[in-house]
Amino acid sequence: MSEQTPAAVFLKDYKVPDFLIDKTELTFDLDETQTVVTSRLHIRRNPESDAATAPLILDGGEDVKLIGVAIDKYELPKEEYNVSNDKLVITATPDAFILTCETLIEPQNNTRLEGLYRSSSMFCTQCEAEGFRHITYYLDRPDVMSVFTTTIIADESRYPVMLSNGNEIERGKTEDGKTFVTWHDPFKKPAYLFALVAGDLEVLNDTFTTMSGRDVALKIFTEKHNIDKVDFAMDSLKRSMKWDEEVYGREYDLDIFMIVAVDDFNMGAMENKGLNIFNSSCLLASPETTTDDAYLRVEAVVAHEYFHNWSGNRVTCRDWFQLSLKEGFTVFRDQSFSADTHSDVVKRVEDVSFLKTAQFAEDAGPMAHPIRPASFIEISNFYTLTIYEKGAEVVRMIHTLLGADGFRKGSDLYFERHDGQAVTCDDFVSAMEDANGVDLTQFKRWYSQAGTPILNVTDSYNETTQTYTLNVSQMTPPTPNQPTKLALHIPVRAGLIGPDNQPLSFTVDGKEQTEVVLHVNQAEQTFIFENVASRPVPSLLRGFSAPVKLDYGYTTDQLLQLMSGDVDGFNRWSASQQLAVNELLNCVQQYQAGKDLTEESSLVSGFESLLADSTLDSAMVALILSLPSQAYLSELSGVIDPHAIKAARKHLRLLIASSLEKEFKKIYEANTVTDAYQASAGQIAKRSLKNAALSYWVASGNDEAKSAVVRQYRNADNMTDQFSALSIIVNNQLAEADDLMSAFFEQWKHESLVVNKWLMLSASREQENGLVQIKELMEHPYFDIKNPNKLRAVIGGLGQNVETFHNLDGSGYAFLADQIILMNKRNPQIASRLCTPLTRWKRMESRLSEKMKSQLERIASQDLSKDVYEVVSKSLA
Ligand code: PHE
Ligand code: ZN
Repeated sequence: MSEQTPAAVFLKDYKVPDFLIDKTELTFDLDETQTVVTSRLHIRRNPESDAATAPLILDGGEDVKLIGVAIDKYELPKEEYNVSNDKLVITATPDAFILTCETLIEPQNNTRLEGLYRSSSMFCTQCEAEGFRHITYYLDRPDVMSVFTTTIIADESRYPVMLSNGNEIERGKTEDGKTFVTWHDPFKKPAYLFALVAGDLEVLNDTFTTMSGRDVALKIFTEKHNIDKVDFAMDSLKRSMKWDEEVYGREYDLDIFMIVAVDDFNMGAMENKGLNIFNSSCLLASPETTTDDAYLRVEAVVAHEYFHNWSGNRVTCRDWFQLSLKEGFTVFRDQSFSADTHSDVVKRVEDVSFLKTAQFAEDAGPMAHPIRPASFIEISNFYTLTIYEKGAEVVRMIHTLLGADGFRKGSDLYFERHDGQAVTCDDFVSAMEDANGVDLTQFKRWYSQAGTPILNVTDSYNETTQTYTLNVSQMTPPTPNQPTKLALHIPVRAGLIGPDNQPLSFTVDGKEQTEVVLHVNQAEQTFIFENVASRPVPSLLRGFSAPVKLDYGYTTDQLLQLMSGDVDGFNRWSASQQLAVNELLNCVQQYQAGKDLTEESSLVSGFESLLADSTLDSAMVALILSLPSQAYLSELSGVIDPHAIKAARKHLRLLIASSLEKEFKKIYEANTVTDAYQASAGQIAKRSLKNAALSYWVASGNDEAKSAVVRQYRNADNMTDQFSALSIIVNNQLAEADDLMSAFFEQWKHESLVVNKWLMLSASREQENGLVQIKELMEHPYFDIKNPNKLRAVIGGLGQNVETFHNLDGSGYAFLADQIILMNKRNPQIASRLCTPLTRWKRMESRLSEKMKSQLERIASQDLSKDVYEVVSKSLA
């Protein structure tokens, strides 16, 4: 452990800044190894601060070298300022002044990918959350908002494109023959939204006419060889702009909107004002190189970053504890956009499945935190599924409680009231309350309480009085620092299904209806439905109306009935999941008891009728066919036994495959897409069903199926079909696997993003000496440890490789720990994210648990970055 234990910061300690920066003027003299940054900050004391004589304390980084500092025209001698612990402190300042500061930074050596860094041949920046302090000394906090003017100086032959936020206002030559370009952003913003890009880039141009008739220039920049892959992103951008006008009444504000793709990026993308920077994996798309899933991700991320222009930029966060204010809301917005663009049920199933797998696991682990955390050591660790996905669920519940119109009134008021401000989650909820005249006091507990609530439901039916009663109790398990919890306000959307698979009507609150939102807001409650004609099957939590675990003892017959008869598409899927989970967990137990796994499965008959019903949406059928994942079953297990889960899944898959071989063949053959590739809902649905069927058909061992999958691989004209075929061939260990893996690499080695897919599949591949293979991959000439996408591909593949990662000798965990230790100083954000699987150690079966723990202890004995320290120390606590 490092000498000093990194300290936590607390929400309760928030104080307004002592100083404000009205204007920020920056000059970058760009150079790979020695970039000089000159800043002129127009500073004044904050009238709202109660410390009238407070010193000026600016944030910096150990990688920023201070050359000189002046107040107005006066160059400060060394005795008049102090640099220590990454802070620049000036004790005596006037009440208003211009601070000039010259710093030296080394973009070439920036491996953390925060601040100004190099990615292949270009310069780019990443400033959220606290990256700007790695460029120059500043009040690097989101409630300090400033108008930025940025001048970039560089050699034009190598960096013909030089970009920053806002509009280009000037361009010319310097005395020594370099080029300078000046950008001005009229909107006040915090430093985390600053961006700069320079490189030899190609551009795709387009325009968008806003609702008030203004023309906005749209520009997407990439390195030359990728410019043919941004048409889909451009189209997504224009559709997002239109959608935000129609659904939220939000118009774009600048005359230009730019997006740049970079290869080396810690996250998905970044919403810098007027100059979004994207991980190329979230921007580039072409039919031959990009799968359907990746297309949908590009569309969603383009929308997400664009939507931040209002939910994040025009109205930003007061402090980083409020991160979910912009992220939860913006995820909700991008989810709604995708749902409107494609199928809302399919989108909901995908989002909920992800939430229940990964966010629920986070909520049950040592890093559990509320969507508005009360403290943190390193903010980068809090860009979590809880802040993003659960945050979106909380916004969605507000939408459910207020209805679409009420929600829109609330969002209008929020944007109007707070435009140009840095605000809190409470401000958001207040706008919702005030616009609708409602009281959300109890609801707000969702912001401060961590953990996933469990809803326990029992029922009874009285035939004589025709009343149906639901008894609902709620309980949220303890999480770190929160041993006891208060009752939450949980909206439960519900309906009743009759014996003939028809929705039953009922009377609640004196109103006859077929669907109701129950307001669960006490520890225990009873809900009475009157005039219920016969004993119903309850369809609860429709559309997943709240992020909770629902515990109602459904019988297999009831689940089969919901699966085929519920009017709520989401709950049809949900019932099928529950059925599969029950059978799989049963197999897990049999495996652990050393018994033969059951040869009976009601899923077989369930799937049989599903496949026979041609009226169903293909995408839904494909989703239902995909069994609950290894990760989801782990989340559901009290004690996680990865080997037993794997065996159970494999067994059930084979059982279904062999029982329904003919049906799968038929579905496979019936769902061929003959039109030219499009990432449309219709085509995606067909491909996903076809490939799901193919996967089962091949698993049945049928020879015709084996030829079909190899044929599909060879004939595919799009990456979805090609890669699905390859994965099926590899996962079923067909004889062609080795040859086709090599052929795939040879075909695509010039496409970095496709190489990542190959790396991932190679790493996840079950083989004798799995770890040796993985080590070889990391030595491969096309692997690059500096590129987070490549590292994530290999480590992600390892994580899916149950035999290798969870090897009982602990070698998989030791290997992961080696990578964490290696990345700890190089790129702390990535290192910290790699720790996630190890944070689950307490829930693993005892042998694996011990091995994981000892690797965590080995990591803890190193000199750690704040990022890794926080995760590891909290996991061991
Ligand atoms: N704010 C970005 C987003 O969600 C995510 C991000 C965070 C990117 C931190 C980089 C660094 O859209
Ligand atoms: Zn975001």
